[in-house]
Amino acid sequence: MARLPDLPTPALVLSLEVLERNLATMATTRPGATLRPHVKAHKCTGIARRQVEVGHRSFTCATPREVVGMARAGVGKDLLLANESVDPHRLAAMAAAERETGIMVTVAVDSTMTVDLAAAAGLRHVLIDVNVGLPRCGCAPEDARSLAQRALAAGLTVRGVMGYEGHLMTVPEDDKPRKVKASMSSLVEAFDSLIDVAGEECRIISAGGTGTYHAFDPDDPVLGRVNEVQAGSYALMDSSYGAQPLPFEQALYVVGTVISTASRDSGSWAVIDVGLKSLGMDHGNPHIDDAVVWFCSDEHTTFSMNDGSLPSIGDRVAVQPAHIDPTIALHADIHVVPRWGEAVTEVWPVDLRHW
Ligand SMILES: Cc1ncc(COP(=O)(O)O)c(C=O)c1O
Repeated sequence: MARLPDLPTPALVLSLEVLERNLATMATTRPGATLRPHVKAHKCTGIARRQVEVGHRSFTCATPREVVGMARAGVGKDLLLANESVDPHRLAAMAAAERETGIMVTVAVDSTMTVDLAAAAGLRHVLIDVNVGLPRCGCAPEDARSLAQRALAAGLTVRGVMGYEGHLMTVPEDDKPRKVKASMSSLVEAFDSLIDVAGEECRIISAGGTGTYHAFDPDDPVLGRVNEVQAGSYALMDSSYGAQPLPFEQALYVVGTVISTASRDSGSWAVIDVGLKSLGMDHGNPHIDDAVVWFCSDEHTTFSMNDGSLPSIGDRVAVQPAHIDPTIALHADIHVVPRWGEAVTEVWPVDLRHW
């Protein structure tokens, strides 16, 4: 990054050129409906519209707010809440968004209660969420059929199954295909167990993320059955995924300003106004090029340069977040530059924030 824009900091700055490169790279491997981009990674309809431009029409969401916001903004044709909700008001808001916009809304269900609440709220389509090894949501594979039967009896369409193998996103590459295959075999078995009752509209086997999108070998009898991947982070990236051999580049930084420097016998350091209130910290400290990050506190990050130099007070510093999703959720706007070093040309609201 040559020059950073003159903005009040901390500020999210996005390179449109890098974003478009990431979207094009992914769309080459997983074109159109074979990718269901996860909007939780960016929470921004401005970015989702770019994903539509490269051919994707179906999207994954983590919150009812993301579903309703995408539908009301008219982005996409087919929205999946890949998560369970037991909030009747939010379920009804998603049903109303579907009715009023004509954009299809599908919700994940993993219990009789989530099925019954979806039907009661006026939703029409579900995916059976199957646990594929991550101790989070998802029914036991052997319960998928009875849940599908319950959904059908309640008048819902069962569009297929989903299973999120989040525990495998960062496993070493040489072990990844084997582990993803083992995890996906339970998802494929769950699909096969309910296909005779769910009928023609049951076609989806949805899984995956940025760390596994390349593991779904179309020629493999199990992995090739997964027909859509839910990757999200690939669009913007972060230092955790950046440490993996993935073909995506960092498209977004949190830009900070040096507010204090110190030079002592014990060493020198600089402090910027980017702290853990503007960074998702669950994957560890952020990264600054050619520097060592010492620590983050509420409003500060302290770092030193590898070559012993000291930045000047007022200098701009680009901070690469360790985890993109929670970082984005802390900010109201994304400042868009055509290329690194150029001035901001657009501001895209992070308009899908909150729940
Ligand atoms: C249900 C679900 N699908 C897919 C993903 C993949 O996202 P990413 O591309 O960030 O790995 C996530 C991430 O947490 C998720 O929760």
